[in-house]
Amino acid sequence: MRNDRKERFYEMIEKYKKAPDVVSMERFVQHGNTSTLGHSENVAWVSFLVNEKLHLNADEKILVDAAILHDFYLYDWHDRKSDRTDRLIHRYNHPEIACENAKKRFEISQKTQNAIRSHMWPVSIKRIPRSKEAAIICMADKYCAFVETIRMSKHLGLK
Ligand SMILES: [Fe+2]
Ligand SMILES: [Fe+2]
Repeated sequence: MRNDRKERFYEMIEKYKKAPDVVSMERFVQHGNTSTLGHSENVAWVSFLVNEKLHLNADEKILVDAAILHDFYLYDWHDRKSDRTDRLIHRYNHPEIACENAKKRFEISQKTQNAIRSHMWPVSIKRIPRSKEAAIICMADKYCAFVETIRMSKHLGLK
């Protein structure tokens, strides 16, 4: 049985899990054998958990909204595998694409948009996380990417 914390988290992401474009991220591979949707959910869950466990008092809605949409760029970046330049461009540009897609489909605050835009820092050196929420997501993203790449996510209770 899910505990209260998980229950609360799933309530917060429910509307996104019902949105067809968000669901479509299930088709794209992110790292290892984790889909982009799985990765986004992992980043949202880890961010939510870290905030609560460490008593960081970040805004939960901004945190979860931005985390679930941080990689909402809607293509499979592996299709760009053959072209190194394309992959580098993806690494740098995808937060902006994700943010534009998110703005078109959902009502999200400016702070949420900023957190999406800065999640690749320090790759995107000028887009520095400037809020507690943005900093948490930026770190949770790196942690999840690592765990997914070494295919340990299932062992750590992630997707
Ligand atoms: Fe990303
Ligand atoms: Fe990510």
